[in-house]
Amino acid sequence: MVGLQASGKSTWVAGHLAGTHVVVSKDHWPRARHREARQQRVVAELLAEGRSVVVDNTSPSVAERAPLIAIAAAACVPVRAVFLDVPLGTCRERNDARTGAARVPLVGLHAAAGRLVAPTTAEGFTEVTVVRAVGGEGVLPQAAGPEEERGRGTAAAAIPEGSIAQTCLRPGSAAQP
Ligand SMILES: Nc1ncnc2c1ncn2[C@@H]1O[C@H](COP(=O)(O)OP(=O)(O)O)[C@@H](O)[C@H]1O
Ligand SMILES: [Mg+2]
Repeated sequence: MVGLQASGKSTWVAGHLAGTHVVVSKDHWPRARHREARQQRVVAELLAEGRSVVVDNTSPSVAERAPLIAIAAAACVPVRAVFLDVPLGTCRERNDARTGAARVPLVGLHAAAGRLVAPTTAEGFTEVTVVRAVGGEGVLPQAAGPEEERGRGTAAAAIPEGSIAQTCLRPGSAAQP
């Protein structure tokens, strides 16, 4: 997942991937040390077990996403970015409407917005899905049709599903003779 705080990532995951993917998020261990390293380890372990994984964090920058792409490549599995392309103002409103620990400090939201770069296949994603509200406020991104959800001018469609797995040369992988 890629998206600002309160952009709707966890809601989208619950609606689309909860039945098929193990949800990993640093938010699950708010007080743990070395949360990033722990998350990467958990993702690698789950992929090694053959599970499908969704990482539900903001992952706004190319640098923050790179380790996850590398882990997927090492595991010889395709990796998809789902980008919640929601305006900062909307995220602020949704964040303001939250209570307790779920409401993040505004400075964190603005910091993530400053780092946010839309994910692309050029950085190693097999596929990029863009989810955005259509028709103005209050319209669920989940209600968007395939044209709204897909592509947004990226090269995602040009890369066949599983192309990373097919070219994976990890010893012992299915791609080995
Ligand atoms: N499509 C949507 N339209 C309107 N509100 C939404 C939508 N998706 C999520 N929300 C609301 O926005 C807030 C943040 O959603 P959440 O999924 O927790 O975001 P994130 O995981 O990105 O922080 C929640 O209060 C949620 O109910
Ligand atoms: Mg969330």
